[in-house]
Formats: sequence, C-alpha cells, structure tokens
Amino acid sequence: MAKLRAAILGYGTVGQGIYRILQDKREELHRSLGLDIEVGAILVNDLEKPRPDTPGVLITDNFDDILAIPGLQVVFEAIVGEEPAYGYLCRAIDKGCHVITANKVMFSRYHIDLHERAKSKGVYIGYEATTAGGVPVIKTLKNLLQVNSVQRIQGILNGTSNYILTSMRTDNSAFDEALRDAQALGYAEADPYNDVSGMDAFHKLMILSALAFDEQPERGEVDVKGIDTITLEDVKRAEQEGLRYRHVAEIVRHPDGRLEASVGPQLVGPDHPLYAIEGVNNAVAVDTNYIGTLTLVGPGAGMYPTASVMVEDYAEIIGKRAGFMISI
Ligand code: NAP
Ligand code: HSE
Repeated sequence: MAKLRAAILGYGTVGQGIYRILQDKREELHRSLGLDIEVGAILVNDLEKPRPDTPGVLITDNFDDILAIPGLQVVFEAIVGEEPAYGYLCRAIDKGCHVITANKVMFSRYHIDLHERAKSKGVYIGYEATTAGGVPVIKTLKNLLQVNSVQRIQGILNGTSNYILTSMRTDNSAFDEALRDAQALGYAEADPYNDVSGMDAFHKLMILSALAFDEQPERGEVDVKGIDTITLEDVKRAEQEGLRYRHVAEIVRHPDGRLEASVGPQLVGPDHPLYAIEGVNNAVAVDTNYIGTLTLVGPGAGMYPTASVMVEDYAEIIGKRAGFMISI
C-alpha cells in the first residue's frame, strides 16, 4: 500500500488541527482512499516553544528540511502573511507537491500565479480553508459556477468580528474582553489587526471575487471598515431599537460588468438574513441566475472546522488523481 508523505507549515491553531485530524482519521483515510498518509515534518518559527507531542515527526524551522522529505506529496500551509508563505508554496509546487492553504492574506494576492504554477506542474491547490473557515463556500461556488453565473455575494466572513459583536450583545462583554476570548478560542489571529479592521474579511471577499467573477476589484477602491470603533454602548443602543450590528462583506457585479465591493459594519433588523447569525458563525449568500439565492452558514474559524476542510481538500485531490472524485 502506497505511503504518502505530508508536511505541515505552521503548528499553531490550524496546524495542530491538521495533524490531529490526520492522526485520528489515518485508518479511515487508509480504508477509503487506499493510501497511508504520514506527516513527515512540521515547520515552525520558534523551535523553543513548547508543543504537543508529535512522535517521529521532524520539527524544523528550516524549509529546506521540508522539501528534503523523501516522497513528499502534499504541503499543508498554515502560517501567517504573504511571505515567506508564498515563496514556500512556489518551491513546494515546483517540486511537484500539491499544496493546501488556509492563508487568505497570501492567497488573495497570489492566487493567479499559484494556480498557473500548479497547472504547469500537474498538481492541485486546495484553498477551502482560506474563506469562511468550515463553511464549504469554495467547493459550492466551483460546483454551481459550472452552470450558474453569480451576480452578488454578501456575507459575514470574519468569525472573530461576529463573535465579538455577539458577546457584547448577549454577555455585556467589553470589546477588548471579547477579543481576548476570541483569541483564546483560536478564532482571532495572534495579531488581531486584520480581524477587527475588516482586512481579513476583505481578503476573503477578494478570493470569492476571483472565483465567482474571474477578477478582483481594484483593491484601493474597496471601502473597508472594521468593528473596531463599535462600543458596548453602541451595541446595547442598537438592541433597544431592535437592531444588531453585523460585519458585512459584499460584492456585486453590475449589468455593465463593473464590480463594486464593500466591507464594514451594518445595522440590520430581524428581517435581514444576517440578523440571526451569531457567535463565530459565518454566512455567505450567493445570488445566482438559475438557483436564486443560496445561503451557507457555519463556523467561520477555529481549529477543527478549519483543519477539517483542509484534510477534505486533500482527500478530494487524492480522489481526483485516482479518477473517482471531482471538483478541485
Ligand atoms: P497561529 O496559531 O498563530 O499559528 C501560526 C503558526 O505558524 C505557528 O506555529 C508559527 O510558528 C508558524 N509560523 C508563523 N510564521 C512562520 C514562519 N515565517 N516560518 C515558519 N513558521 C511560521 O495561527 P493559526 O490560527 O493557526 O492560523 C494559521 C493560518 O491559517 C493563518 O494564515 C490564518 O489566517 C489562517 N486561518 C486561521 C483560522 C483560525 O480559525 N485560526 C481559520 C482559517 C484560516 P511558532 O509556533 O513557532 O510561532
Ligand atoms: N481570524 C479569522 C476569523 C480566522 O476570525 O474569521 C478564520 O479565517
């Protein structure tokens, strides 16, 4: 039986989730795919940091060690920011590895280059985890775009923001307290600037735009605001008026072909589809020509929702290579 070797870049919230799921599901994946998947090495930044045990796995801070793993077939990327992530993925693809990423900051900018590179090498890129955590919006869009066209996407794309807004309303938490909780739960980034400034949702919206419309709007033309100016008093006042704050990312294709996008807080009433989306959940509503509006809701951040869709990407790649599954 073939043994497949995987590497994980980053061993924080998401990286640890990938490792655990690959261990927990090893037998099952072996049975269903006929392949034994073994994690050969994990890349980290700080070798001194205490970490959960990974028996027999090389822990390294040198990417050359990753590429040197014999038979390396797939690289899961869960580090932070554009570089060195982009450079590492280029090198992994050039070596003939499939890559699966959770890194929306990097992927929203370099998606075209990575897709072209992967195509030229005959390997695949999985990026479900970049957008809306455990909500399968990427594979859903890929499927429906085979027949439908998309006119508009509207959603909550940052789990941390929705978690903070919900905690302020339901638990009277101050903004900073709710943000600390979101970090402790593995929802917010170690540097939460992108979460609370709206930039995280912006990157995700750009990924959806590239997929749904085959282009992105000019980055500088998108109005991006976060929830960082919303206070507990604002949230309570809104509630007295029967309204809730939601952090909404939206992109519309106008009839003349122009794309218009915005990201920012909105006050919504009970009749709004995003009113009832609470906690870490994300929601993505896609307006299409044949289906009408399709809405997906689910956990938008966190260790297992995110890691599980990355392992699903991998299973799908392996299945596609074996000729019995489609869509990546
Ligand atoms: P995290 O807990 O902060 O972990 C990041 C990991 O990356 C750490 O292990 C860190 O090493 C390592 N790392 C950072 N820079 C590195 C570098 N230059 N070289 C080698 N290793 C490096 O972050 P996370 O929450 O797991 O998120 C990882 C990625 O997934 C991010 O791009 C994030 O936006 C994305 N994402 C996160 C979630 C979520 O719910 N958390 C969901 C979807 C997508 P050390 O441990 O040594 O510091
Ligand atoms: N920090 C991100 C969020 C993680 O809260 O949505 C998921 O991409």
